[in-house]
Amino acid sequence: MSKNPHKETDLRQLRVAYPALAPVFENDPDLAALFKGRHFVLNIFDGGSIAANSILSASSVLLGQSGSGKTNGLAALLEELANVGASFSCIDSEGDLYTVADILKSVKVIEVKNAWHEEDIYALALSTIQGIERNIFTFTATTTIEERRRFVLNYSKSLFEIADARYREGKAMPHLLVIDEAHLYAAQQYSSADKWMQELLFLFGNIASMGRKRGLGLLMATTRAARLNKDILSQVRMRWLMRAVEPADIKSYRAALNSIDDPNVQWNIIASIPTLPIGCAIFVPDDGQGRPIKFRMRYSRHISTTPTMENYEKYGEKEV
Ligand SMILES: Nc1ncnc2c1ncn2[C@@H]1O[C@H](COP(=O)(O)OP(=O)(O)OP(=O)(O)O)[C@@H](O)[C@H]1O
Ligand SMILES: [Mg+2]
Repeated sequence: MSKNPHKETDLRQLRVAYPALAPVFENDPDLAALFKGRHFVLNIFDGGSIAANSILSASSVLLGQSGSGKTNGLAALLEELANVGASFSCIDSEGDLYTVADILKSVKVIEVKNAWHEEDIYALALSTIQGIERNIFTFTATTTIEERRRFVLNYSKSLFEIADARYREGKAMPHLLVIDEAHLYAAQQYSSADKWMQELLFLFGNIASMGRKRGLGLLMATTRAARLNKDILSQVRMRWLMRAVEPADIKSYRAALNSIDDPNVQWNIIASIPTLPIGCAIFVPDDGQGRPIKFRMRYSRHISTTPTMENYEKYGEKEV
């Protein structure tokens, strides 16, 4: 009997590529103390870890439908990056990552002000890279999409310029730019009325293809895979693919796997996407091999649950 090339791979046969380490923070009340002294290994998985350097200067995407566990995975990653002393900037579009700073004092939360001049934004990017700092940028609820895009463009452009200058001097230092809800800043469809979009796409295309040597990594996460720019999707070197069921989104996952030559490997990865449990992903690094992983739970507070009526009793001033 001939072997069916489209048979679904048994995910359990795929091995997690990195050896498991002992859990770092379990049951310890003093997280800050435990964060000290760990080396360049990120314990972002349940029972597994990954070398910080492999993520820091790489271009990657994290795709998954609402509730698949993206924010939790990103938070675990930011916690671990801070833990090993790595430098990052995170665009917290939804406002649910900044609580990482509550447990990690080296992480700064910066509320973006629309009035900032380009020079001020450049100075901020410079001190971030030179000072090996960790920033999470938040927006107020009334910040418009144009204002957000303007900031993300100017800040990312500054990071790229600074990283490029350091690279030319032979002094490149790794810095990871993490962008949540990335489809807002690198859209597949946009009109000429969408200010900044063309410049953003040009810039992110350059960072995705030229950032690695310059030490500037880019991690784009989104709920709307179908709305994320396909050119950028097909340029990334690593993918974290979480659960999705919408055909349009799955099509975009295919774009993200474009560089894999073997169609069977692509097919096996795609076939498993709708069945993935919460928190699980197929991690597909440069070698094109899919590895199932499960992100560990974040240690920082998760704030994006839907408010319920019980909150009236907890937080209301009047008796109900
Ligand atoms: N690795 C995990 N293990 C167990 N539970 C998880 C894991 N990751 C996420 N969850 C739970 O699933 C829920 C949704 O997670 P999360 O907010 O990270 O999803 P999301 O993909 O960011 O969703 P959205 O697109 O709506 O923001 C949370 O309540 C979280 O506690
Ligand atoms: Mg989220």
